Amino acid sequence: MSTTVIYKPWDLLIHEVWVLGIVSTWAWGCSTSEDLLPQFRASIGKNHLDIGSGTGYYLRQGEIPATTLLALLDLEHPARNLGLQRCGRPDACGLQADILQPLPVTDTFDSVSMYYLLHCIPATMAEICAIFKHIKRNMTLDGIIHGASVLGKGVRKDNCFAAHVRRSGLNTGIFHNTDDNAYDFEHALPTNFEEVETRVVGSVFMFRASKPKQKKRVIC
Ligand SMILES: C[S@@+](CC[C@H](N)C(=O)[O-])C[C@H]1O[C@@H](n2cnc3c(N)ncnc32)[C@H](O)[C@@H]1O
Repeated sequence: MSTTVIYKPWDLLIHEVWVLGIVSTWAWGCSTSEDLLPQFRASIGKNHLDIGSGTGYYLRQGEIPATTLLALLDLEHPARNLGLQRCGRPDACGLQADILQPLPVTDTFDSVSMYYLLHCIPATMAEICAIFKHIKRNMTLDGIIHGASVLGKGVRKDNCFAAHVRRSGLNTGIFHNTDDNAYDFEHALPTNFEEVETRVVGSVFMFRASKPKQKKRVIC
């Protein structure tokens, strides 16, 4: 049985130049070098997992100490392999999994990143926010999760370039963010983490949350 690969390596390589180099700044008003990379660099632990790693751009540019253990996760084989080839760390470990489901491993990480991932996932806001609940199982008690996602609702008006990029992203099935809004993210994060920092930069929701909340034990 053949399955369709959604994120082909060439598309991801084009994404790196086009989206991270041009679209993020000029359409979304959020610069990769001035907004996204600084947050990524400031939020790396000793055992890091990058989810939706694509070309491995953040792992390559993230100034990650050589002593940090690295893992990357992507939905499909070709994307996972591209990330492993290009992340600049031959010792990185690659996982193939769908982040909408609990991870198929029991490893725990003290930092987890997800940049420009959530707005690509074809799911409702409730399903996207449920990711924060199940990813906690793979985080240490002091773990930190951070990322960024392009919003679809309740944001500033798109400029002409942004309107064009958004329309073609939605029409081609690359974007699934019509309902994505800061309010729902801002509710889901404190439900799952003790410490939460969020900000909207241009049309992008940026977040950093730490100390996963544990289930309360019922003592009989
Ligand atoms: C737009 S790319 C972003 C890549 C990278 N984080 C960046 O900012 O350059 C989104 C990535 O998420 C992966 N992805 C999409 N849906 C996913 C899912 N449900 N679970 C895991 N990875 C997913 C895609 O294969 C792709 O590599």
